[in-house]
Amino acid sequence: MTTFQINGREVSVTAEDDTPLLWVVRDELGLIGSKFGCGVAQCGACTMHLDGQPVRACVTPVSDVAGREVTTIEGLGGDVASAVREAWVKLDVVQCGYCQSGQIMSAVALLSEISAPSETDIDNAMNGNICRCNTYQRIRTAIHDAATTLKG
Ligand code: FES
Ligand code: FES
Repeated sequence: MTTFQINGREVSVTAEDDTPLLWVVRDELGLIGSKFGCGVAQCGACTMHLDGQPVRACVTPVSDVAGREVTTIEGLGGDVASAVREAWVKLDVVQCGYCQSGQIMSAVALLSEISAPSETDIDNAMNGNICRCNTYQRIRTAIHDAATTLKG
């Protein structure tokens, strides 16, 4: 049994300690916004926040999150998340959408740390999030747009 906070509520789950957090969140808790892509920490589709930091939920054992705060795309709130969502819509970032939950989780984590990220900051934060539809340039532009909104 592991007890943790997810999107502001406490949950206790019965999965084995080494079960990946992604499995628990999708299958046991029914939150399916976070996606399975590679399962080996290489694509970013499963990105969640753990105590505010982006993590790959496909390789995070559920026991690692005991007593901690997990945020998924469903629970993402606040000014940074709003600015990112608005920029994503304004710039029509999404194509098939499969990677975008992870992209947004990484972008929000970046902008929460660095309010006006440089190109290098964006590279460092986002390069691990793969998009098969090649939306990278729109993502980059949307991050800058969200930064401008937050500054204004
Ligand atoms: S599914 Fe977790 S990084 Fe690809
Ligand atoms: S929008 Fe299709 S994989 Fe990124």
